Amino acid sequence: MARAVVIGGSGHIGTYLVPRLVEAGYEVVNVARGQREPYRPHGAWDRVRTEILDRDALEQAGRFGTAIAELAPDVVLDLICFMPDSARQLVEALRGRIQHLVHVGTIWVHGTSAVVPTTETQPRRPFGDYGVNKAAIEAYLLDEARRRGFPATIVHPGHIVGPGWNPLNPAGHFHPEVFTTLAHSRELALPNFGLETVHHVHADDVAQIMMRALERRSTAIGEAFHAVSPAALTLRGYAEAVGDWFGSPAQLSFLPWPEWGEAQAPENRQATWEHIARSPSCSIDKARALLGYAPRYSSLEAVFEAVEWLVGQGTVRVPGR
Ligand SMILES: NC(=O)c1ccc[n+]([C@@H]2O[C@H](COP(=O)([O-])OP(=O)(O)OC[C@H]3O[C@@H](n4cnc5c(N)ncnc54)[C@H](OP(=O)(O)O)[C@@H]3O)[C@@H](O)[C@H]2O)c1
Repeated sequence: MARAVVIGGSGHIGTYLVPRLVEAGYEVVNVARGQREPYRPHGAWDRVRTEILDRDALEQAGRFGTAIAELAPDVVLDLICFMPDSARQLVEALRGRIQHLVHVGTIWVHGTSAVVPTTETQPRRPFGDYGVNKAAIEAYLLDEARRRGFPATIVHPGHIVGPGWNPLNPAGHFHPEVFTTLAHSRELALPNFGLETVHHVHADDVAQIMMRALERRSTAIGEAFHAVSPAALTLRGYAEAVGDWFGSPAQLSFLPWPEWGEAQAPENRQATWEHIARSPSCSIDKARALLGYAPRYSSLEAVFEAVEWLVGQGTVRVPGR
């Protein structure tokens, strides 16, 4: 039985990835601090060992890479690597000792796009520490794979969605009140013409692509793949579709960015800026062709599953309930 070590397996992606690994016959070790629980119960977790390790503390002591190597993994799925030095420490400790490292990046490695849908081959123009560091990790891992034979694959998710947490909403931030506004056909102001884009993915589809990368290891090594839904949404199209889903036609208004921003809470304004300044719209052609990726969820299907959960929690209020 091959051993899969999942670093950070009890969050959004791990909730779906870990049961898939168990079902595929892996012996799974989840590395985490023991603070989070998966979003959905699943019997597979009874067969998973959780190794309590704090990556940050062990990295500072220079011991995280060796701690992972000591777990004797055949494959490592690294869900929480944010700095090039973290990637380096892991690679140095695992070199020659594993069959595959699947690293989770982000579509924010692209920064702004020139041609959409953006393909994996387009030059990286990241901005902001998070995207810049993730792009540096990607460049490092691809170089290790192509020049030194280190078996790395990179998977770049879009905005991850699933039942249990707030999805990125049609105003480009995370406050669930936007869904309540749409459910009641109250006016919702959107920035600019509402034509900037967001690109979601269901957490289970991120898990799917990671499994397919493991299955098609020789094809996947040395490659990066977008993990997104089949198509991005404009804010306007997203808002209208949510209104229709509630049976309440969306009442939209549009404001230039400065005016729109002034009317928002600072954290919402910042979140929207981060998303629409990038306006991702990424291609999945490569993952389809090389890995057989077949997303189960469109962006809207993924969002509706999450909003259904928010309605059930009473976080999003709908008329008559
Ligand atoms: N969220 C998005 O929309 C999005 C979009 C694109 C890319 N991504 C990428 O997706 C990855 C995050 O995946 P996710 O959303 O599934 O993560 P998540 O939900 O935040 O879960 C994080 C996991 O890591 C564990 N963890 C956190 N800090 C740790 C530490 N210091 N040491 C050991 N374990 C630790 C957590 O468990 P404990 O708390 O119990 O330790 C949990 O299992 C990142 O690489 C991110 O860049 C996310």
